[in-house]
Amino acid sequence: MSDQQYDFGLVGLGVMGRNFILNVADHDFSAYGLDTSDEMLSRLRSEGEGKSVDGTTQVTEFAAKLSSPRKIMLLVPAGKIVDIVIADLLPHLDEGDIIIDGGNSYFPDTDRRFTELAEKGIHFFGTGVSGGAEGARLGPSIMVGGNATHYEHVRPIFEAVSAKVGDDACVAHVGNGSSGHYVKMVHNGIEYALMQLIAEAYDMMKYGLGMTNLGISEKFAEWNEGRLQSFLIEITSEIFLKPDELTNKDLIDVISDKAKQKGTGKWISQNAMDLGTPIPAIDASVSMRAISSFKEERAKAAELYPKSQSDPTMITIEELEDAVYFGFIITFAQGMKQLAEASVKYEYGLNLENIAKIWRGGCIIRARLLETITDAYGDNSELTHLLFHDKIVTDVNDLWSSVNKVVDVALNAGISVAGLSASANYFNAFRSERLPLNLIQAQRDYFGSHTYERTDRDGHFHTEW
Ligand code: 6PG
Repeated sequence: MSDQQYDFGLVGLGVMGRNFILNVADHDFSAYGLDTSDEMLSRLRSEGEGKSVDGTTQVTEFAAKLSSPRKIMLLVPAGKIVDIVIADLLPHLDEGDIIIDGGNSYFPDTDRRFTELAEKGIHFFGTGVSGGAEGARLGPSIMVGGNATHYEHVRPIFEAVSAKVGDDACVAHVGNGSSGHYVKMVHNGIEYALMQLIAEAYDMMKYGLGMTNLGISEKFAEWNEGRLQSFLIEITSEIFLKPDELTNKDLIDVISDKAKQKGTGKWISQNAMDLGTPIPAIDASVSMRAISSFKEERAKAAELYPKSQSDPTMITIEELEDAVYFGFIITFAQGMKQLAEASVKYEYGLNLENIAKIWRGGCIIRARLLETITDAYGDNSELTHLLFHDKIVTDVNDLWSSVNKVVDVALNAGISVAGLSASANYFNAFRSERLPLNLIQAQRDYFGSHTYERTDRDGHFHTEW
């Protein structure tokens, strides 16, 4: 057995883990893996042939192979497994060693682990890694949360393996405590909403405008050349070209319309309610996944409530593109606002410009729009809302009439546009100096003596209604 010491350890040699460790080895760092499965280990050895990479199924050997301080990344499913792996590792670690949880862990779990491990002298980093299996191999976007000083041990490795936009590495120490996983949760909420908006555009193209799958693919490819340029629009264009291997149909037409979810979208909506930060575009996308799962009820209701015959071709493809771009802007605005609120509430110390910057490459939500968002927070770190940035104001003023038209025509035709209409309603409320919620205050006071404030004098008032 050689006594080589490795720079980096990785637990969990599934496809994400193997790809990440091979990426590390491609960048002149030696890496050592741990997995309970012999099969995963032999796959790593064959895929990593000729590289400075190896592994074991034995935790003792794993710990002995890593140089000090040990830098150990976990790429295992979020939840209990993370605690089990940490408990297995702990007896073999020394004070000052580093554990990085690279899964989509729930941020309160990360806070708990951070505190428990700090008591043992272990530095813990809850870290969002985005980009899927391909990103892990070729360059993901990495959102690191934890102690900034100790992050320096890991920084050279992460900067080497992450995606690049020009000279910028798509990795940053985003803040304290659980901030890395929090930022990844918001990333995923934005991911959910962008996917929903694109799905609504598909619905309008196919069942509204009567376009073929080929036509839809070409249109998304064209959109991807302009302001909507993004990873999700790009892959959408490719999806519509894929033939099914089992039938002679297009694959998209034989995929069930029940969308699954693993939880990060739900968490951001729950946390938004806790913070009192409205993110209805993201909430709508989470709800739509839930509605999609009620297939039997949907089929029954479709018979009970036949759709009206209004003509959805009353919109142009350009108006649809405007509407999707508007939805993208509102979605990012809501996500950034939630980050700003969370940064205050949890004392994360987030820098929104840096977060927008590292989302420009490698991750699922990478999009041309993030250049504008990076500039917006770069020009003004105190920007309270993305909708106040000059360029966004100009764009949104040009877009909103198209959005209203698309939502109106879609609803009249019985096509659900939950993401677009939630975006439009959020915008309409946000830009209304006057809302009808004075009535809600009056109602609360009427039935519960909850008091109200007045427009013409200070204080809290109650009326015997
Ligand atoms: C990423 C993705 C990824 C996420 C999947 C599935 O950034 O690479 O966000 O982390 O797990 O997108 O999420 P759902 O199963 O919840 O759709």
